[in-house]
Amino acid sequence: MEPGPALLFYVNGRKVTERNVDPEIMLLPYLRKKLQLTGTKYGCGGGGCGACTVMISRYSPTTKKIRHYPANACLIPICSLYGAAVTTVEGIGSTKTRIHPVQERIAKCHGTQCGFCTPGMVMSIYTLLRNHPEPTLDQLTDALGGNLCRCTGYRPIIDACKTFCKSSGCCQSKENGICSLDQGINGLPEYKEENKTSPKLFSEEEFLPLDPTQELIFPPELMIMAENQPQSTRVFRGDRMTWISPVTLKELLEAKFKYPQAPVVMGNTSVGPEVKFKGVFHPVVISPDRIEELSVVNHADNELTLGAGLSLAQVKNILADVVQKLPEEKTQIYRALLKHLGTLAGSQIRNMASLGGHIISRHLDSDLNPLLAVGNCTLNLLSKEGERQIPLNEQFLSKSPSADLKPQEILLSVNIPYSRKWEFVSAFRQAQRHQNALAIVNSGMRVFLGEGDGIIRELSILYGGVGPTTICARNSCQKLIGRLSRPWNEEMLDAACRLVLDEVLLPGSAPGGKVEFKRTLIISFLFKFYLEVSQTLKQMDPVHYPGLADKYESALEDLHARHHWSRIKYQNVDGKQLPQDPIGHPIMHLSGMKHATGEAIYCDDMPAMDRELFLTFVTSSRAHAKIVSIDLSEAFNLPGVVDILTEEHLGCIKSCFFSESETFLATNKVSCVGRLICAVIAESEVQAKRAAKQVKIVYQDLEPLILTIEEAIQHNSFFEPERKLEYGNVDEAFKVVDQILEGEMHVGGQEHFYMETQSMLAVPKGEDREMDVYVSTQFPKYIQDMVASALKLPANKVMCHVRRIGGAFGGKILKTGIMAAVTAFAANKHGCAVRCILERGEDMLITGGRHPYLGKYKVGFMNDGRILALDMEHYNNGGASLDESLLVIEMGLLKLDNAYKFPNLRCRGRACRTNLPSNTAFRGFGFPQAGLITEFCITEVAAKCGLSPEKVRMINMYKEIDQTAYKQEINAKNLVQCWGECLAMSSYSQRKAAVEKFNSENHWKKKGLAIVPLKYPVGICSVAAGQAAALVHIYLDGSVLVTHGGIEMGQGVHTKMIQVVSRELRMPMSNIHLRGTSTETVPNANCSGGSVVADFNGLAIKDACQTLLKRLEPIISKNPRGTWKDWAETAFEESISLSAIGYFRGYEADMNWEKGEGHPFEYFVYGAACSEVEIDCLTGDHKNLRTDIVMDIGRSINPALDIGQIEGAFIQGMGLYTLEELDYSPHGILYTRGPNQYKIPAICDVPTEFHISLLPPSQNSNNLYSSKGLGESGVFLGCSVFFALQDAVSAARQERGLSGPLRLSSPLTPEKIRMACEDRFTKMIPRDEPGSYVPWNVPI
Ligand SMILES: Cc1cc2nc3c(=O)[nH]c(=O)nc-3n(C[C@H](O)[C@H](O)[C@H](O)COP(=O)(O)OP(=O)(O)OC[C@H]3O[C@@H](n4cnc5c(N)ncnc54)[C@H](O)[C@@H]3O)c2cc1C
Ligand code: FES
Ligand code: FES
Repeated sequence: MEPGPALLFYVNGRKVTERNVDPEIMLLPYLRKKLQLTGTKYGCGGGGCGACTVMISRYSPTTKKIRHYPANACLIPICSLYGAAVTTVEGIGSTKTRIHPVQERIAKCHGTQCGFCTPGMVMSIYTLLRNHPEPTLDQLTDALGGNLCRCTGYRPIIDACKTFCKSSGCCQSKENGICSLDQGINGLPEYKEENKTSPKLFSEEEFLPLDPTQELIFPPELMIMAENQPQSTRVFRGDRMTWISPVTLKELLEAKFKYPQAPVVMGNTSVGPEVKFKGVFHPVVISPDRIEELSVVNHADNELTLGAGLSLAQVKNILADVVQKLPEEKTQIYRALLKHLGTLAGSQIRNMASLGGHIISRHLDSDLNPLLAVGNCTLNLLSKEGERQIPLNEQFLSKSPSADLKPQEILLSVNIPYSRKWEFVSAFRQAQRHQNALAIVNSGMRVFLGEGDGIIRELSILYGGVGPTTICARNSCQKLIGRLSRPWNEEMLDAACRLVLDEVLLPGSAPGGKVEFKRTLIISFLFKFYLEVSQTLKQMDPVHYPGLADKYESALEDLHARHHWSRIKYQNVDGKQLPQDPIGHPIMHLSGMKHATGEAIYCDDMPAMDRELFLTFVTSSRAHAKIVSIDLSEAFNLPGVVDILTEEHLGCIKSCFFSESETFLATNKVSCVGRLICAVIAESEVQAKRAAKQVKIVYQDLEPLILTIEEAIQHNSFFEPERKLEYGNVDEAFKVVDQILEGEMHVGGQEHFYMETQSMLAVPKGEDREMDVYVSTQFPKYIQDMVASALKLPANKVMCHVRRIGGAFGGKILKTGIMAAVTAFAANKHGCAVRCILERGEDMLITGGRHPYLGKYKVGFMNDGRILALDMEHYNNGGASLDESLLVIEMGLLKLDNAYKFPNLRCRGRACRTNLPSNTAFRGFGFPQAGLITEFCITEVAAKCGLSPEKVRMINMYKEIDQTAYKQEINAKNLVQCWGECLAMSSYSQRKAAVEKFNSENHWKKKGLAIVPLKYPVGICSVAAGQAAALVHIYLDGSVLVTHGGIEMGQGVHTKMIQVVSRELRMPMSNIHLRGTSTETVPNANCSGGSVVADFNGLAIKDACQTLLKRLEPIISKNPRGTWKDWAETAFEESISLSAIGYFRGYEADMNWEKGEGHPFEYFVYGAACSEVEIDCLTGDHKNLRTDIVMDIGRSINPALDIGQIEGAFIQGMGLYTLEELDYSPHGILYTRGPNQYKIPAICDVPTEFHISLLPPSQNSNNLYSSKGLGESGVFLGCSVFFALQDAVSAARQERGLSGPLRLSSPLTPEKIRMACEDRFTKMIPRDEPGSYVPWNVPI
């Protein structure tokens, strides 16, 4: 084989020719580093987040058609792109030339916050529109299924996309012929409100039209090249890997003959992640290119043959077509495959992954293999020696050598037979999230009943996710067919369940955990299959098959059918306001367009500096151990390695922000997995990562290993001090109450999952040891301090700059400081720039997250629901170092009352020291956990009193003027108003009745409804921590530059700040610019967080503007018709300074923990949320059907940004309470290290109906224009979904006669829902004796 031509492909219409290509390189780093196209982002590197989405276009000389499809650039080997055209976000539009309508609409509809996910979103929609200029909503949500956003909550993105749909005003889901926009959920009338005058958040009229003729054309050169493709294999040789691309079948077989061990890489979605995450290395890779035989679609009399090279998306389209054309009885397998192809991964992966790759990978959780196996599919194999067929059966799936491909063979195609009359095939899966999540258990089932006699003639059942491979329940099936020839009835079902449970054995320690859930799913699916077949039999022959009782039919309906729609109601601006004053208007995020075009620059988008080095950390693999030795020799000897730093180099510098000190790098002892041990510095990222793997550390484990809160309590392992708050006389009150209840509630942790991972670039300035640090942080001053102390420099030599960050949520403060200090140390030592960008897995491992909580309560109450005494103990899992754990406990205690007046309250809180990575600040800062525990306690009280939870909530709520437990005055008028409006807006009582009716009619599906109030105190307990400064310059041309200490992390603070300047100086926003945040312009700025960034910095800016106006007033009044240019020039002539510093000293605040009294907060944000859910009792699957939120946010500065904060936080809270689950091994190792294991809400999780309403403006004299900070409060409202789920589960339990206490914990995942809906199936499964096995994971 001769080396082929240079690699040739197009990017954004420009030809790229690579002569010395390294086959190990993926498209994403190539775009970002080589072509400087940094719009395409890195979010995970494993196909799971969609941040790197690009469009790939290929021309087929056979069909003469161009195929455009979305793909994840992080998994596309560059060599696979020969002859392809790549379109990135930069290729479709820019602010400098012409914005593309997709970019315009996502920005103008407020679909961007931090903007890090936006280019990926844009490219997914853009590709969809290239293929379907007027898509349906289904196509839209499907196209975005593989794109994650951590900020927006997706609603505005959906709204933006809807504007491209055929009739964007309609939901396109006409149930009973009525558009669901015109009918409430459950068909109930909607809450009609007088004076619905609120304007829209965006105006469709100004949108650019979508004009497909304006799109980039497919490069004609590539078309000609494809037509005249020379028929010879291309070979690309790198230092370590050789890439062979055969272009004919013959050459493919030859290559496979020569390199039998080489993988045949098609979509690279299986090989790619193995190479990246599991360290697998292939010296030779064979990647067939456009071999027609691999894309055959052949319809025969009794089967369909599909080429192994077809993508899963193509397979989906082909099958969709086939089921339209063939009678239903022939298409049972195709329908089942289609069902799974609808949820398998996201659109990008489905377009990249091939059918052959899917089959041959034989992942244990493959969705399609169980179906192909039950469907008796066969595989057509080919090698130089000839053709042969093998069955796709359990032996093949278990890779039994006698049933597998030979190393020289390739899979050519798959034969999928038609089904027969009386043959039924079904597909089942349950995952943590409905879409783009690997199944926890999946299954394919097929039965063939003899000619209408109902006797089982053939039966085939396979499961995925329950063993190392797809498992077949062969013996059970044989017994059920057996000599007895079972009929299809309940007796058979019962026998089947028992047989399958005996055969498909799952040990208690099985990888993946959730063992009892999996066992239950195995038979729940079987039951569903039984019902499905019974129902079809009834339709086919109602005389012989009476079928199911109506209420059982609910087991078969799909939960996720309806379409999204939303309604937003916000305040109109004051009629007296000047028309040019932007305060109160829904102004688009000022970076919105740049987010959408990829022009917004984040830390790692900065171009490489001369001689730049890369730093990567080596972290501890043990949770509690002594470091016996560290051997760096092998790592040092690798090419490109420049240095390896240990604590020895850094000396004895300590992180000193909090009372406890923490060394930067560990030398003697480690107290958690992920602890930084040393830092490898190399010429490239790849070299640094390779060397890091060669650092050899010998550990000696230490006792005790403390992972959980319970273990910390047992070992008395706490951070000091304990915090306590007491109000009234709890002990006395317990003596007079009717009832006392004790219980506890556990709230799991949460990963920040900001889309931009921790990133920093340290640049020595070359003079006076000055250092510039560009870093993704919420707290530049802290970074400055840490770097200065690491370099033993005064702070004035270290400057920290932040333009914007791709999300933070509290996670970019303290750990960022340590990593930035080490990076700057390396830069200083070597005199050149050093960059450190964490990979997603490293980030999740190292940085910790939201604190897991345990709340123990004793509550005393009267039979009418009045709570008279509450004694609460809080414990949080702080991890290995103090970080902010104590502050989190304090905030949790101060806020645990939520909206309730507990006349006698005692609460104590302790932060536990454990061997987990240190947990830290996270949006809400203790309140989401503390509030949930209190609300849970209230639902328990309600249950005990036989009252509804909303009644008990209402009875105990603060009313009018009152006092909190720490004796701060509170006026709860707006709380009561929010509650009342939410009840009305959600038609609560009518819907509650409808839910009850639904539940009485449906046995296997239940609905639940819940409403929760919110009182969120805003403030940070300290005056000094609230001070802020700003700098406003007016230039002689009349333009203004403003800077302040706040960080733009998606919340739109810079946009709001420009609105403030615009109002104060009465100048248009277009005249004002903001470059970013820097310790050089505003020194000593406080951390950005705690909902107060706009409050504090806005007041400082207002102060600066007023100073300027005061100085300029005489000039302006002399020339009132002048322009800012005139006034600035005159001021300059008159030697009046055009620059002013503004300052805000902080809200008056104090908290005396000794006395338990204070005024820690400035004001309260009030709100209420009502959610309705539906659950599938057999699988634990659930759907949020509708959420209504009412918020009192004072007088909004920018309702679009504020609503964005509310709904983004709500969805994040919903993730916390119902979805996001961290898994740790019994040795303290985090398993969940990327989007493929850790599920944050995706587009499928947005409530089907989502309505948000803001209370009319209220006056609040101290705040910035009476506005209220909203960054955090909405997280808690996500718990309305938790309680709605609890309500649904309770309904199921009640119907099943289960009255005992229901111990639920957060997150309320499908596993917990299913296991709480106890029934005959949960009773049937085997249970393991606790202690008889080592579980795979430990609940933290
Ligand atoms: C983010 C993500 C989400 C996912 N979600 C799901 C999910 O929800 N459900 C699910 O079932 N799966 C899921 N997957 C797995 C996915 O379906 C498989 O990775 C994919 O189908 C593999 O196809 P491929 O073409 O990319 O294979 P490749 O990675 O290209 O190849 C995989 C293997 O197949 C072999 N091979 C490929 N073609 C041939 C051939 N013609 N002849 C011989 N050998 C061949 C290769 O040698 C290699 O060993 C997910 C994957 C990712 C990355
Ligand atoms: S970076 Fe490619 S999918 Fe996440
Ligand atoms: S805007 Fe989507 S991740 Fe921030």
